Amino acid sequence: MKKKRILLIVTGGVASYKALELLRLLAKDNFDLECVLTDNTKKFINILMFESLLGKKVFTELFSLNETSEMNHIQLANNFDLILVVPATANFIGKISNGLADDLASTILMATKTPTFFAPGMNVNMWENRIVKKNLQKLKDIGYKIINPSHGKLACGQIGVGKLVEIQEIHKIVRNFFNSNNLLKGKKAIVTSGPSIEKLDPVRFLSNFSSGLQGYKIAEQLSRYGAETTLISGPTSIEKPDNVKIRNVDTGIDFLEASIDELPADIFISVAAICDYKMKKVSEHKIKKNKHLEKKFVFEKNVDVLKEISSNNMRPELVIGFSAETEKLVTNTQKKLKEKRCDWIFGNLVSNNKAFNSDSNKVCFINNSDIINWPMMKKEKVAEKIVKEISLFFNKS
Ligand SMILES: Cc1cc2nc3c(=O)[nH]c(=O)nc-3n(C[C@H](O)[C@H](O)[C@H](O)COP(=O)(O)O)c2cc1C
Repeated sequence: MKKKRILLIVTGGVASYKALELLRLLAKDNFDLECVLTDNTKKFINILMFESLLGKKVFTELFSLNETSEMNHIQLANNFDLILVVPATANFIGKISNGLADDLASTILMATKTPTFFAPGMNVNMWENRIVKKNLQKLKDIGYKIINPSHGKLACGQIGVGKLVEIQEIHKIVRNFFNSNNLLKGKKAIVTSGPSIEKLDPVRFLSNFSSGLQGYKIAEQLSRYGAETTLISGPTSIEKPDNVKIRNVDTGIDFLEASIDELPADIFISVAAICDYKMKKVSEHKIKKNKHLEKKFVFEKNVDVLKEISSNNMRPELVIGFSAETEKLVTNTQKKLKEKRCDWIFGNLVSNNKAFNSDSNKVCFINNSDIINWPMMKKEKVAEKIVKEISLFFNKS
């Protein structure tokens, strides 16, 4: 197999020296590597250390004839499967998010379409600076991946967030990128997540405690595996995943309309906790406390998004449901699998603060032939495992 090519861009901060360890690990994995240092990086580390580890020249100059005659910035920009910026300084993040290209590293990033990961490393005040935050958000919105720094004691002595994540963690992310990348390329996925809200009157609504986290994590993984992913989300307060199209909705009917609008698709995953009931007629005015209050609340069944999509004439090849139960998990989930005519279903217990509003989940995977209890895992891990199963499904058949 052709070796995967990685360009490592090192910018100038106290963590610049850590890029050497990353280079060592990636070289051990047999990646084809090139390295670019900013001018300021050379003030923190000796370029020779990189060159001796790489066994070849490191690029630093935009206007160097020697370097550009071998490989100019356009070649450097377009010859890679992945670009890493480790560490990424506040300065460099600012430059890229504002479209500046005044040295070799920034010019390469302006001229490339290669997936690029930034691993910021900086002082906590810099990290919390609203300009830096805005710049990072801009990068995320454009599609760059950000490997967030961790909390800890910083080189300046302060304690806080800003510390470059462990190099082993970045190494793992790079490996995962190449392992998972493109297994679902060419597939379109729709994920619904979060709660629905159903109006009672102009000021009140019916809803539930769903945080939306599980669906967000699944959407993130699907996108990492190369699927074109749309996340249809009820109101939540969680961060939008990278490279995922978001459609914000409120009611069950909104969820249904947005889901149908996104068809055709290959994968449909219904994680949203859509209220089973809604008001038969939403009161035009605020419902007042009076004697016959209960008569004002007449409910009817809400739309069944999962069932509708399962029966749609553009039914995706793989339709997956989630079943939030408070009792008889397996029996109720199996019943739902049949009723909704989906291919797989994940049952989870949601009573006693389990699953809803928690970052862990214990699910039971059920299809027509199997019932498998998965152990309690972080929602991120559950998402990874589900998407691995999906990728096996499509790569087997
Ligand atoms: C001792 C020292 C340590 C620094 N550490 C960092 C750092 O960890 N992160 C950061 O964003 N900037 C840091 N800076 C500031 C950058 O070096 C500075 O913004 C520089 O312009 C970055 O250049 P570059 O982005 O082109 O590599 C540090 C500066 C000094 C003098």
